[in-house]
Order: sequence, then C-alpha cells, then structure tokens
Amino acid sequence: MRELAGRVLIDAARQAAAQAHAPYSRFGVGAAVLLGDGQIVTGTNLENASYGLSLCAEAVTLAAANSQGRLRDVVAIGVIGGALAKDGSISGTALVTPCGRCRQIINEAAQLGEREIDIYCASADGAAFAHFRASDLLPHAFGPADLGID
Ligand code: THU
Repeated sequence: MRELAGRVLIDAARQAAAQAHAPYSRFGVGAAVLLGDGQIVTGTNLENASYGLSLCAEAVTLAAANSQGRLRDVVAIGVIGGALAKDGSISGTALVTPCGRCRQIINEAAQLGEREIDIYCASADGAAFAHFRASDLLPHAFGPADLGID
C-alpha cells in the first residue's frame, strides 16, 4: 500500500516536472504532496534570472498546500528530478532527495500535523526509488514545537 502511494505520487511529480521553470540549471524537479483526504497537490521548481531567488519544487508544492489551508494535512510527498528536455521530459539515473532547506519545510508540516511524513524519491529513469520518513532525513529537527506553537 505504501509502495503504491509512493508510485502514484512519483507519477504525479513526474507530470508536474514538465512545467518546471528551470532555464538556468536545466534540472527539472517535480513534487507531489498527498493530503489526508487523498487529494494530491503538485508543483515544480521555479528558477529566476537572479539565481539565488530560485525556489525548489518541494517548497513550492508545500506552499500550494498551505494556500489551501492544508499544511497540517500533508501525509506524504513524492520528489523526482533530472535533466530537463525541451519537451518537458526529465532524464537521469540519480535519486533526487529534498535539499536541506526543503527538509526543514517538510518538517514544519510534519510537526504541525503531529505526524511523520513519508518522503518518496525517485530517479528520472525510474530505476532508483526510495522511501524515507521526514525524521530520517532531518533528525533532531528544530520546529514549531520549540517555539511553543502547536
Ligand atoms: N531543486 C529542487 O527543486 N528540489 C531539491 O530538493 C533540489 C534542487 C531545484 C533547485 C534548482 O532549480 C534545481 O533543482 C537545481 O539545483
């Protein structure tokens, strides 16, 4: 069941990656968040000519979930990325896992929801697939609970 949810999220993330705005790195990333009621929210990385302003797909997607008032309801996220072709397809063999900043943003949702968040990661060619929990990727995390926010 968990594996199936992960595959569904990775498929949704791959479709989202086709919309990546990544003309500078030409590395497209798609993310898909699963909410508690089964709804899926997707997003992509969004780069900027002022390179440092670029946003990761995971951050964009979690912000979209929050815009629907659903940050607490996130139960899982899928992430996939690779070299972005003109037709929106991605390629590559390396597993893409959330960057450090995105791990912290995922942790915010996990602590607000008082649950672990499952993180599914895949390589663009589909050969590599992995499941982590948010606390695996960011152990001993600082979060809202440390500020007395529940
Ligand atoms: N990127 C993501 O969207 N998520 C990650 O977890 C790692 C990196 C994006 C940022 C940038 O647009 C491109 O990938 C290359 O770093």
